[in-house]
Amino acid sequence: MLEMIIVLTVFGALAILLFVIYIALIVMAVEALFVPLFDVPPKVPSQKKMRNVIMAEIHKNFPDAKTIIDIGSGWGGMAMRAAREFPHADAVGIELMPLPFCCATVSRCLLGPKNCRFAFGNAVRFIKDKKFDIAVCYSGPELMKAIEPHRDNFKVVLSIDFPLPNIAPSRTVTLHKDRMGQHVLYVYEALGTRR
Ligand SMILES: C[S@@+](CC[C@H](N)C(=O)[O-])C[C@H]1O[C@@H](n2cnc3c(N)ncnc32)[C@H](O)[C@@H]1O
Repeated sequence: MLEMIIVLTVFGALAILLFVIYIALIVMAVEALFVPLFDVPPKVPSQKKMRNVIMAEIHKNFPDAKTIIDIGSGWGGMAMRAAREFPHADAVGIELMPLPFCCATVSRCLLGPKNCRFAFGNAVRFIKDKKFDIAVCYSGPELMKAIEPHRDNFKVVLSIDFPLPNIAPSRTVTLHKDRMGQHVLYVYEALGTRR
């Protein structure tokens, strides 16, 4: 009887493991379909040094921000960091790819600050009819081009490495250099004041 319970437990655990792997493979396959459809950049999370500079910028120049959006929030690190650093603000991350979105949502539920949430979908559609004090981006040239027409929905845009294509930044902050090249933070201020 005991042997049978052990065998059933082992087989049950194996079946659950295989099921989880199967679901992960399906999610990854679906995700792969999204890449050619939406021309999304690689899912490289921002580096800690980049997040430090963004947080320092908000602390120094925009400490009263009430709403912060991470456009293309990936695995959720930037949005959750912003939520922790600015507990009086609401942070939201919007992400197009299912796997990073699910992981970000699970991390947020397990560890995350309550003032952070994640939404799934195309950021361009998501931001269309919403206003935010600060938009944080590390998303690639295509997305910057697509969000530029909605720039008045933000008071401030902080974008790492990818500028808005047709607007001169208020200022730039030179970050570190690594094998990906020189990193730069583009700061766009007073955008939403033209509302
Ligand atoms: C370089 S990652 C940055 C992740 C995160 N912001 C961070 O700082 O760690 C860029 C993310 O933008 C997402 N993305 C690209 N285009 C998007 C779109 N149109 N709508 C929503 N997310 C998008 C990608 O799937 C990717 O996860």
